[in-house]
Amino acid sequence: MSYVLFAIIAYIVGSIPSGLIVGKLGYNIDIREHGSGNLGGTNTFRVLGKKAGLIVTISDILKGTIAARIPWMFDADVNILIVGIFAVIGHMYPIFAKFKGGKAVATSGGVILAVEPILFGVMLLTFFIMLKISKYVSLSSIVTGIVTVIMSIILGHIGLIIVTSILTAFVIYRHRSNIKRIMDKTEPKIKWM
Ligand code: G3P
Repeated sequence: MSYVLFAIIAYIVGSIPSGLIVGKLGYNIDIREHGSGNLGGTNTFRVLGKKAGLIVTISDILKGTIAARIPWMFDADVNILIVGIFAVIGHMYPIFAKFKGGKAVATSGGVILAVEPILFGVMLLTFFIMLKISKYVSLSSIVTGIVTVIMSIILGHIGLIIVTSILTAFVIYRHRSNIKRIMDKTEPKIKWM
């Protein structure tokens, strides 16, 4: 019963459409109608600039961290990594935004932050090294996911291996169009790094 309750709460927290809220309230823009059409931090950076992009990215990370930490606050006997998966599902398919959400990256990071802050630091490092080399946010996100699974295997934490594998599968699945664009050499590169 606890799992169902906390999974529903996590899904609702993950469903809070930060990109839509910041875009609509601050700029009267639905970012899903601009840029890549994605409701995430990257597209917010692209469409609305650094300040809005940073707010949305941090909010999306915090959704994962808070959702995963809620059962811990109630001392509930549930695996908070599994609960965190539902926050990521909410972020990808938000009930408050016609199920058209983001690509699982920031919120997955937030779930890992709730459980393994050092691993989250490794994720950030991997992401920015990849971004510096490739200039592709999408490729950097995918590689970060894969490195996170490898790190979990090295740590030998079976729960973490399973959950990071699921989250990375979400990330890869949600980046199908980016992968196609990278292969076609039409994926936009960032210019500020
Ligand atoms: O986190 C999403 C990012 O990896 C790609 O976003 O807008 O370029 O498809 P976007």
